[in-house]
Amino acid sequence: MDRIAIEGGNPLFGDIPVSGAKNSAIKLMAASLLTSEPVRLTNMPRLADTRLLGRLLQRFGCGISESDGAQGQQTILHTPEITSAFAPYDLVRQMRASFNVLGPLLARTGHAKVSLPGGCTIGARPVDLHLKALEALGAHIDMHEGYVFAQAPRGLKGAEITFPFVSVGATEHALMAAVLARGTTVMHNSACEPEIVDLAECLNAMGARVSGAGTKTIVVEGVTSLRGTDWAVVCDRIEAGTYAVAAAMAGGEVRLTKVRPELIAALLDKLAEAGCEITHGENTVTIRRGEGRLRPVDLTTDVYPGFATDLQAQFMALMTLADGESVIRETIFENRFMHVPELGRLGADISVSGGEARVRGVERLRGAQVMATDLRASACLVIGGLAAEGETIVNRVYHLDRGFENLEGKLSACGANVRRLKGDAPVEEEE
Ligand code: EPZ
Repeated sequence: MDRIAIEGGNPLFGDIPVSGAKNSAIKLMAASLLTSEPVRLTNMPRLADTRLLGRLLQRFGCGISESDGAQGQQTILHTPEITSAFAPYDLVRQMRASFNVLGPLLARTGHAKVSLPGGCTIGARPVDLHLKALEALGAHIDMHEGYVFAQAPRGLKGAEITFPFVSVGATEHALMAAVLARGTTVMHNSACEPEIVDLAECLNAMGARVSGAGTKTIVVEGVTSLRGTDWAVVCDRIEAGTYAVAAAMAGGEVRLTKVRPELIAALLDKLAEAGCEITHGENTVTIRRGEGRLRPVDLTTDVYPGFATDLQAQFMALMTLADGESVIRETIFENRFMHVPELGRLGADISVSGGEARVRGVERLRGAQVMATDLRASACLVIGGLAAEGETIVNRVYHLDRGFENLEGKLSACGANVRRLKGDAPVEEEE
């Protein structure tokens, strides 16, 4: 298993290009199953998660080719025919989001058998909302032996769906199923995340008729078939936010390129509150951290456009060195403080009660061996290591590889002393 070694203390200076969003790319890949024509995705991140989903899609009859074209990394997905609509446990458990193939398979073929994804380190993460939405669209759902058996032999039909609370995955799942349903679907209390807008716009480019994506109410007029398209994946706002926090932690001046600043506005506001200087252009954001300690800042995670739960761990790492106490509340997942004891190994002073963490800023962190517990928690440990005295070794780096493209290369290019220690064969585990 690879590890990452960080020698702390170097400020960061330079440009960091932001990759395409993992959480959009994997939904767009699943959406490619909805057409028999090729879908060409550009600005594609090359990640463990996209590779894993690719393996699953190939089982369904999807041909996948990857190359580096004029518009950067691209992946062409082509499923002339669904040859199997079965997603086995072994692949789905390694990445929960692969459960989202259920809707496209069902919409295209009228049946699917997909493993339930199971639990996860950040929370129970049930899929009840996904299944209720598919049932509302006319699917007959059975569950046994850990599998969902879904059937809609005469096709799905449009429906009125009201989500009891906001779910990114359920919104995307219902959307992908509704585009080929007969009639109109209205989805109330939908998630508004930029990745949903990206998915809806790509579906429209494929001939779907979706309006309202990015608002609470999405309306889908079903069509009988979709065509292929070319689509550029939206920038990864979580990767961008992670490097913005890294710059604030290490000091120096970093310019993020290929980014849409408005997608990380909630984070940039918090960084400014903490004392960073932020400037942005159309597709760039520059983060400058001056001398002296940062101010403590409280935050509460929320659905978009609120502060993203996927940036909570990274911001907490930053607050460990602030001049005073900050309170961080996690409202999206019930168990997303697994990084707290690991930050403690670096010398952070944090106590957790329920969904609330109190971070009492310390004057310095000291390097140590730490264990990554999930993707974003791993990023927070790297950020801690950038400012810690001495060497920090982050174990279980496969979590990072799931969602950060060339992390060590991007940080090293800005002067960080980060290197990968090669280990035995990579281990794949669930999210
Ligand atoms: C997506 O997960 C992202 N994953 C997560 O990023 C992100 O943290 C999350 O949205 C919130 O922004 C992908 O896009 C692949 P939800 P998702 O459904 O769709 C509960 C990362 O690090 N819930 O909005 O699974 C759920 O347990 C990952 O990249 C139900 O109870 O999130 C959670 O508490 C981690 N029943 C809340 O809703 C359901 O049927 C919000 O989850 C569905 C969700």
